[in-house]
Amino acid sequence: MSEAKKLFIKTYGCQMNVYDSERMVEALGVDGYVTTEVVEDADMVLINTCHIREKASEKLFSDLGRLKPLKVARPDLKIGVAGCVAQAEGAEILRRMPLVDLVVGPQSYHRLPAMARAAGQGAQAIDTDFPAEDKFDHLPQRKAQRGPAAFLTVQEGCDKFCAFCVVPYTRGAEVSRPVSRLLAEARDLVGRGVREVTLLGQNVNAYHHVDDAGTWGLARLLREMAQIDGLVRLRYMTSHPNDMEDDLIAAHGDLPALAPYLHLPVQSGSDRILRAMNRKHTAAQYLALVARVRAARPDILLTSDFIVGFPGETEADFEATLALIRAVNFGMAYSFKYSARPGTPAAEKPEVDPAVADARLQRLQALLTAQQRAAQEAMVGREVSVLYEKKGRLPGQMVGKSDHLHAVHVTDPQGAVGDLVRVRITAASSNSLAGEPLAL
Ligand code: SAH
Ligand code: SF4
Ligand code: F3S
Repeated sequence: MSEAKKLFIKTYGCQMNVYDSERMVEALGVDGYVTTEVVEDADMVLINTCHIREKASEKLFSDLGRLKPLKVARPDLKIGVAGCVAQAEGAEILRRMPLVDLVVGPQSYHRLPAMARAAGQGAQAIDTDFPAEDKFDHLPQRKAQRGPAAFLTVQEGCDKFCAFCVVPYTRGAEVSRPVSRLLAEARDLVGRGVREVTLLGQNVNAYHHVDDAGTWGLARLLREMAQIDGLVRLRYMTSHPNDMEDDLIAAHGDLPALAPYLHLPVQSGSDRILRAMNRKHTAAQYLALVARVRAARPDILLTSDFIVGFPGETEADFEATLALIRAVNFGMAYSFKYSARPGTPAAEKPEVDPAVADARLQRLQALLTAQQRAAQEAMVGREVSVLYEKKGRLPGQMVGKSDHLHAVHVTDPQGAVGDLVRVRITAASSNSLAGEPLAL
């Protein structure tokens, strides 16, 4: 191994980018890179980008602008751009930003270590292929101890082509990783201290794999993962409503390791808008699905994503979205103002007046925030399991996540990172809960 070089990595976007960044750090670790939090100390800066909304994309160019003086002072500093903006605008990034040494798309990360070795010798390099080989099979791993909760990408890409979304273009077609590799990776994570795994995919519940043991969907994969000794909690995201099969709903009722939490983006409550978005389900179908999920697991916490101001959205359409939110009562939800993305079908359509869209977003968020508060307050007095992820700021305090993915601060001087503890919730504040461990 060569002497330690320092890597500064900044990650935008979804959990899949978080997972990819971890894998890139491990792969570059084999070449002697260790991470640093101080960009001025770095020998290499890697920005893992997100293209989902205009604001997310713009962050790359402001980051690169800020790196300029560093690169001028130290021309041997290597600067790389990864992720979905790299995929969508790689060539333009290189043209606009001569300080960038390499651009690598999300399906080519296994080629990053070689690109990093060659970088910094003047020529810019770009790799935004969708290669036939699986990047994860070819990404070397540096085996380091891990925190108790980890992500594991099981599926990538999307074939759904919602009219507003860039993901099918930046991540490519749906591909599921083989069960045997996923089980091996999960066992390896558990061996390194992990107790909770979140299975990730842009359409994770479309997971589909066939091997000698037959056909695998997400439910069967979850059941197999739950057999791994030491793996005590499982989650998955993000799911599409149209891929919520019966066996997956059933797993929420009878698989104890599966957390009572489901992120199920709906985007809108108006059938007209859902059709224009190419979502292929109605509001009534979504509500019926929610009822089936709740029948299987009554205490499940439901979360969602919403887009406000999609082209053509009227006041009545927006009211239908509010009505759906009232009908479901979400534990939490992300909401976004529609952002036209180049190359998507919706980008051709006339936009809603931005002031109107802003006002709607505020009304929607007020309703969602009230529901989130109510869901948190409803936890007070209840018993939950908390997986300790780190020490809190106060002496004797531990911080972790409940089954419902609430952050919980627990006064537990005996507690250690990685403990799964039964806790009684004593108070709720705007962003977290507080609790006391139950005597065994
Ligand atoms: N695969 C997931 C979501 C991926 S993107 C799904 O199908 O639900 C995460 C969220 O970003 C989406 O659910 C959507 O709410 C939001 N989003 C995607 N494209 C957007 C756009 N062009 N403008 C605003 N929000 C968008
Ligand atoms: Fe985008 Fe729709 Fe695919 Fe989700 S299902 S990633 S929103 S195209
Ligand atoms: Fe963003 Fe790409 Fe994820 S566009 S949300 S980083 S798949």
